[in-house]
Amino acid sequence: MHNKLAKSHSPKRPNAGGGLVPVRELHAGHRSTILHHFLQLNEDDRRLRFGTHTPNEVIERYVEGLDFNQDAIFGIFDTELNIVGLAHLAYLPVFKSKGRAAEFGVSVLPEGRGRGLGTALLARAAVHSRNTRIETLFVHCLANNKAMMHLAQKAGMSVEYAYGDADAYLKLLPANSSTIVQEAANEQWADFDYALKENLKRSHHAWSWWLGQPTTAP
Ligand SMILES: CC(C)(COP(=O)(O)OP(=O)(O)OC[C@H]1O[C@@H](n2cnc3c(N)ncnc32)[C@H](O)[C@@H]1OP(=O)(O)O)[C@@H](O)C(=O)NCCC(=O)NCCS
Repeated sequence: MHNKLAKSHSPKRPNAGGGLVPVRELHAGHRSTILHHFLQLNEDDRRLRFGTHTPNEVIERYVEGLDFNQDAIFGIFDTELNIVGLAHLAYLPVFKSKGRAAEFGVSVLPEGRGRGLGTALLARAAVHSRNTRIETLFVHCLANNKAMMHLAQKAGMSVEYAYGDADAYLKLLPANSSTIVQEAANEQWADFDYALKENLKRSHHAWSWWLGQPTTAP
C-alpha cells in the first residue's frame, strides 16, 4: 500500500508533515504533566479521545497505568513546559496471522489546534512504528470525529465505519536508514527545544523574582 506517512520524509510546508514540530518521547517522570494535559480536556474532547464519557478518576487511573517500557508516549510542549499535544502509541498483542500492530491515540489542547500538531504526532508515531517493526498502525475513534478522520485520511489511512465508530489503518513499510535518521533528528530537535524552553522559563522566573512579581510554580 502506498501512503504519505509510510513513504514521505520531506514535508512540503512547515508543520504539514510534522517534521519541524519538536515531538518528544516522554518517560515516567512526565506522568503528572501528562495527567495535567488530559484534565484540561473538556467533556466533549474526552469523549472524542477515549470514545466514552471519561471522568477525572478514569483519566487518573489511565495515566497511572501508562507503561512507558511497553508503549511509546509522545508530547509537544508549550513555552511553560505544559504538554499541548500528546500521543499514545500502544503496541497490540502479536497474532501470527495479523503481524505486528499498534494503536494511536492523540489529543491536542484547543489553543494548539489547527497548527499541525496532531499531524506531527501522527507522523512521529508512524516513523517510530516503522523503526520498531510495526506493520500496521490503527486509529479507533467515533465516526463523527471529523478532525481525526481528516487527519487520518490526509496521512493516507484507510477508514472503515461501523456502528458509529471508525477504524483507520495504515500499512507501513519497513524501516530504513532514512526513517532512523528522521526519528533521531526529530528527537534531538525536541531535546534542544525543551532545553531552550526550560532555560527561558527559569530566567523568566528569576526576573520575576528579582522584580518582585508573582510567578507560577515551576
Ligand atoms: C484530532 C486532533 C488531535 C487534531 O489536532 P490538530 O493539532 O488540530 O491537528 P492538525 O492541526 O495537524 O490538523 C487538523 C486538520 O483537521 C482539520 N479539521 C479540523 N476540524 C475539522 C472538522 N470539523 N472537519 C474536517 N476537518 C477538520 C483541520 O483543518 C486540519 O486540516 P489541514 O491540515 O488539512 O488544514 C484535535 O482536534 C483533538 O485533540 N481533538 C480531541 C481529541 C480527539 O479527537 N482525538 C482523536 C481520537 S484518538
